[in-house]
Amino acid sequence: MEDSIVSKLNSSDIISKFEEHGQEHVFKYWSELKEGEKEILIGQASQVDLNEIDQLLSEHIASSEEKELDLSGIEPVEYFSIKGKESLDEKWTQAHALGEEAIRNGRVAAFTPAGGQGTRLGYDLPKGMFPISLVSNKSLFQIFSEKIEFATKKYGVKIPWFIMTSEGNHADTVNFFKSNNFFGLEENDIKFFMQGTLPAVSFDGKILMSSKHEMVQTPDGHGGSFRALVKSKSIDEMVSRGTDIVSFFQVDNPLINCIDPYFIGFHLMKESDLSCKACIKAHSKEKVGVLVNNKGKVSIIEYSDLPEELAEKVDSSGNLQYSAGSIGVHLFQRDFILELGGNPEFQLPFHKAIKKIKTIDDSGEVLSPEAPNGVKFEMFGFDALEYASKTCVLETARAEEFSPVKNAEGADSPKTSRADQLRKCARWAVAAGVELSLDDTGLPSITFDISPTYASTQEEF
Ligand code: UD1
Repeated sequence: MEDSIVSKLNSSDIISKFEEHGQEHVFKYWSELKEGEKEILIGQASQVDLNEIDQLLSEHIASSEEKELDLSGIEPVEYFSIKGKESLDEKWTQAHALGEEAIRNGRVAAFTPAGGQGTRLGYDLPKGMFPISLVSNKSLFQIFSEKIEFATKKYGVKIPWFIMTSEGNHADTVNFFKSNNFFGLEENDIKFFMQGTLPAVSFDGKILMSSKHEMVQTPDGHGGSFRALVKSKSIDEMVSRGTDIVSFFQVDNPLINCIDPYFIGFHLMKESDLSCKACIKAHSKEKVGVLVNNKGKVSIIEYSDLPEELAEKVDSSGNLQYSAGSIGVHLFQRDFILELGGNPEFQLPFHKAIKKIKTIDDSGEVLSPEAPNGVKFEMFGFDALEYASKTCVLETARAEEFSPVKNAEGADSPKTSRADQLRKCARWAVAAGVELSLDDTGLPSITFDISPTYASTQEEF
């Protein structure tokens, strides 16, 4: 009896808060909802920080002026060039030894933000489940699992893997791993946790509803990792396991080198808090963030924010001046994550993304819009570069490490990624003495694959 009085009081408190903040439409159908539906809506509503929403609306919706990035101090970023590796530079040899030692000593954990919605690919399941390998069609998650398994065997060490999901894809992700026996990894070495969400809003700042009793909740971006890693106690687990270097890699790139001793070595040499891997941009319009130096600090300018004249600018040799493309691969010091994610006052900036969002119309019917109709807000993990006291940027070879799956067709699609996987296998095989005839682009006439459990580099192969 008492419980239901308390929950009634709570509901009316929450409803009046929404009224005060001009979001009363969220409860438009309240009187016709069933008990269970009311609980769902109140549960969601109690998690929404209305002051944060007001702040976002005043910054991103109310003001007609787009906030301009201050790029007045922009210069090309300095990085360790891949040429050093090719010429067997001593620094690269040292970095490799240092990195291998850290891995062997159990200092490295893997971390994949896999909470994104993957709308561009048009795949309804979690993106990590997307089948992408040559011949046996392994999923992205299986490929990463096998790469991690290879590293655990090679270095004789456990490598815990933290996977961040979001409300919409958590259960499918966990079930996929369970039903595949964790792809040969130890169940105890994989930890799944959910990131935070935020309501999406219409162009006039009203929270969008996906049904009469549910708001449209979207994941808060991979910048939500810091909070989520702390809140889920993943950081505590890292402390108890003695891992202090976190290898961050996105869910979309089957060529990824998940545990790279060179990268780890350079990160340690530079005593970096946050390190980034880069590839030279394929062309000025490639949709990758660009690593730059802005007012003396390394930062990543997202492709959508880089003004065209800077994207197109060339140096005296005719090469793109801002050519260091981020491949979404980073190393974080565990204590740096804790410093940011463990501080309730700390807040990364939010970026807005204009999207087509399924929502209900005035009569409560669900609509699938033909054109963008709303805004979602995301934090970007790499904005934390601003707070890092030391950073490090390492160049890597695109052909070896970067061919993401983002779009259903065209650039960065399953077709281009599979072709790049095949070119990589062919290169390794030819270098090992196999006779293969290759076309002008390096593609062999037969299709084959090299299992990630067999070798992680051309040299090993
Ligand atoms: C990303 C980078 C871009 C980089 C490119 C390289 C961002 C904002 N941009 O672009 O700078 O050059 O990759 O391929 O990251 N994710 C979550 N939760 C979220 C949102 C995303 O876990 O709320 C995860 C995704 O599952 C994915 C990764 O973050 O693993 C990247 O997200 P995505 O939005 O696909 O970034 P891109 O636009 O592809």
